[in-house]
Amino acid sequence: MQRVLNIETVKYINKTVKVCGWVNSIRSHGKIIFFDLRDRSGLVQIVFSPNPKLKVKNEKHAPYRTEGSGAGLKVYDLARTLRPEWVIEVIGTVKERPKGMINPKIGTGKVELQAENLKVFSEAKTLPFPIDTPGYEIREEIRLKYRYLDLRRERLLKNLEKRQLVIQFMRTFLQNEGFLEVETPILTKSTPEGARDYLVPSRLYPGKFYALPQSPQQYKQLLMVAGLEKYFQIARCLRDEDPRADRQPEHTQLDIEMSFVEKEALLDLIEGLYIALVKKLFPEKKITEIPFPKMMYKEAMKKYKTDKPDLRKDKKDQNELAFCFITDFPMFEWHSEPASAKATAGKWGAMHHPFTKPQTENSEEIKKNPEEILAEQYDFALNGNEIGGGSIRNTNPEVLIAVFEILGHKKDEIKKNFSHYFEAFSYGIPPHGGIALGIDRFLATILNEPNIREVIAFPKTGDSRDLMMGIPADVSKEQLKELHIKLSKN
Ligand code: AMO
Repeated sequence: MQRVLNIETVKYINKTVKVCGWVNSIRSHGKIIFFDLRDRSGLVQIVFSPNPKLKVKNEKHAPYRTEGSGAGLKVYDLARTLRPEWVIEVIGTVKERPKGMINPKIGTGKVELQAENLKVFSEAKTLPFPIDTPGYEIREEIRLKYRYLDLRRERLLKNLEKRQLVIQFMRTFLQNEGFLEVETPILTKSTPEGARDYLVPSRLYPGKFYALPQSPQQYKQLLMVAGLEKYFQIARCLRDEDPRADRQPEHTQLDIEMSFVEKEALLDLIEGLYIALVKKLFPEKKITEIPFPKMMYKEAMKKYKTDKPDLRKDKKDQNELAFCFITDFPMFEWHSEPASAKATAGKWGAMHHPFTKPQTENSEEIKKNPEEILAEQYDFALNGNEIGGGSIRNTNPEVLIAVFEILGHKKDEIKKNFSHYFEAFSYGIPPHGGIALGIDRFLATILNEPNIREVIAFPKTGDSRDLMMGIPADVSKEQLKELHIKLSKN
């Protein structure tokens, strides 16, 4: 017999069906046992009555609880041993519940299943925490250690479901606009993008390293040289930064790049995407202002003292969405410390990244007054969170070299590290620009979650560990040897 989902039982009144799932809760009324069975689709109530004629039919049970076949055992007696979170299968007849017994809170509240046969797939220990609450009250370390149990929680399942709907919507929207989805490498090259790189040692080339991508930035620009014109990717990005409520070592971006495009057209596309997305997937939400307000960086800093202002009219309203674009950022920012181990000599950092186009093409002027140079950069903010950022790109090699010099890179180093890039520039490069939209941050904001960990299936803790897998972890001496790595004593 084909298994049906719990939610589908309502279509089978007075018919016999098979359902599978986890025992969610158990109640007894006199001799009758009621319990809720949970599967992906929701709950359904199952009823076991003490009917001696109902014997377990030729079923094998979880081998460690019943020797071999459970055939012959009374269904009711087996049901009495059930405990929360056991995984079972029930065959029974779907019956309409009497009027007074209808439960409007669940999708199957009008019916119940009169059990006729029962099979136990697996027993379960008592869970380390309750899963029938939103779970905010439970210590996060323990939730993350048992994330596979935490994800049984309805709130987290709903978050994952919304996540996939959002990603699906973005894909379809961009495909309809003529964009091509392209996967770019995970093993790539260390490049200057602000954060520290995660490095991967090469076994075949002693002393050499790959870097994990902080973003697909260079690849997507090279795809413009390749003539793709409209690229997007749901891209995983890895940055060795200290995690925060809105920052993870790995995050997901909707990454976009376009050729022959100006800032206005690009921002219009993003605005159109988010308006359509909210309308379709979050109809209960209200957007504060359309078109989305645009504001220069300088103006935002003066008026709101932040480059991601919260423009909601009523900050207590859970359903208000205030999108805005911030434009015309400074090209450089001054760091009292070098921005990263890579920019050893430089104390100027790029406000966005070095591939951004400065608003002047005069490299002398750029070198003379870096603090005054503005960039063709824009950020995208929602309710006070930065949910995206991008720029029109610098395709002028001379200006690009000037930018790298200000960031503290030596001329020969620049040529060596970016030879592929400069060479690509020499074969016909279209003007282009793009943006990357933080999917985790958008979801956390729109779902009113306190941090992005609540919208990621397996996030790292605040100190970059995965307590469930136990990582970072040691590796064997042999593995290190193969990779030509010696650990220093301390
Ligand atoms: P940027 O570094 O601004 O741009 O990143 C784009 C967006 O990604 C999100 N984001 C993060 N989310 C969670 N955890 C993180 N550690 C994290 N870092 C960034 C933010 C941010 O606005 N290559 C450029 C884009 C471009 O120029 O096209 C880039 O990655 O929402």
